Amino acid sequence: MKEIKIALLGSGTVGSGVLEVLKCNAEDIARRSGARILVEKVLIRDANKARPHLSAYKTTTDIEDILKDDSISIVVELMGGVTPAKDYMLRALKAGKHVVTANKDVIAAHGEELFAAAKENHADILFEASVGGGIPIITPLKTSLAGNKITEIMGIVNGTTNYMLTKMTEDGSSYDEVLKEAQEKGYAEANPTADVDGLDAARKVMILSSIAFNTKIDFDDVPVEGIRHITPKDIAYAKELGYVIKLLAIGRDLGEQGLDIRVHPVFLPKAHPLASVNDVFNAIFVRGNAIGEAMFYGRGAGSLPTASSVVADIVEVARDICADVFGRHTRIRTEAKKLCPLAETKSSYYVRLLVSDQPGVLGAIATAFGEQGVSLKSVIQTRREKDRAEIVAVTHCVRHAKLQAAAGVLQSLPVVTEIRSMIRVENEQGGD
Ligand code: NAP
Ligand code: HSE
Repeated sequence: MKEIKIALLGSGTVGSGVLEVLKCNAEDIARRSGARILVEKVLIRDANKARPHLSAYKTTTDIEDILKDDSISIVVELMGGVTPAKDYMLRALKAGKHVVTANKDVIAAHGEELFAAAKENHADILFEASVGGGIPIITPLKTSLAGNKITEIMGIVNGTTNYMLTKMTEDGSSYDEVLKEAQEKGYAEANPTADVDGLDAARKVMILSSIAFNTKIDFDDVPVEGIRHITPKDIAYAKELGYVIKLLAIGRDLGEQGLDIRVHPVFLPKAHPLASVNDVFNAIFVRGNAIGEAMFYGRGAGSLPTASSVVADIVEVARDICADVFGRHTRIRTEAKKLCPLAETKSSYYVRLLVSDQPGVLGAIATAFGEQGVSLKSVIQTRREKDRAEIVAVTHCVRHAKLQAAAGVLQSLPVVTEIRSMIRVENEQGGD
């Protein structure tokens, strides 16, 4: 049987999982790809660090040992970060090697440059693991759903924050405690800021939306809110009102209004299909004009689930090598599309305010909302904080600009001490 040699750049959480999957499923992988996949070299950063899982492999600290080795056909980048990962991938492609990566930072920011280099050098570049960990979503979007006009992609695409929100909701665990747990389980990025501030989810929705809507989206154009400001009180109110809080990534084609791409926490009704997606699980809804709705569900992070996607890409490249066919994956033509400004997007909102506990306050607040065209669905006052009352209002569906205007007026009212939270509520359409 043909032998295909590969090199791994990095062997941390995902890299060690890839080595394990390649080893324990070697026979099936060989049958499916038509070749034996051999790990020829592993790039490491520090030769003095103990790495017992690499005892059976050749390691090097010099990328040139890999780039100049003509026996290596596939470079599998699993280091993370943009530098030097992007440079190494670009150089590997220019050296005529195929690239597999799990790196959403690089694909989101420099995908175009890498795809162009792959095309020019008749090489493959595959990145299934960059979104949804073990869930097959990029390949289905590119292939199985290619006959559809896709109008919506929406889901939970970050395992770390979903794990954190689940534990904070179900066990009342503290934010710091659950973030540490997510890091220990290998779910979080090297710098977990990317997870908790929504940047990781934004990169993923950019990648998915670029494929689904045949366009290129700039990271700076995607409005992003993370989960740092979600407090135990918000979680308690969500429960009382019949919701759970999830970090949602949204990509919608609104036609003439443009593409609506954003990431933020939402109150989801408990009966919503995404509300029961818990722990490290991710789920992505895709709406197409032929298929209707499809949902992709599975583990969004972790060593073996992510390795499952990486190895699938290695098998796909191996098949191309065996068939002597390259560049199939970079033949997508993109077109520029405008983005719908955040101010024009619509949602219901949960607004939590700390106010003076005195007669007429509720009326003043309702008037402030009403004068800005924001209609209220419910208002509750159940908790106090010293001499202040806490009021929670849930609005009907309204344009973001109107909600912001109402927030500005509320903040200027002498009876309003502070707007503590404003979180979108996913429960109704329409509004103005
Ligand atoms: P990780 O555990 O931190 O592993 C990264 C590995 O790369 C480490 O072994 C590190 O070496 C090595 N490395 C970093 N810079 C290097 C350099 N310049 N030269 C050589 N080696 C270098 O990270 P991970 O969780 O496996 O993530 C890897 C990639 O997969 C990232 O792009 C991440 O976003 C993506 N991803 C991760 C998951 C997940 O669940 N973890 C899921 C999907 C995608 P040291 O051992 O010396 O630190
Ligand atoms: N840090 C990422 C997450 C890894 O938690 O989803 C998977 O991309």
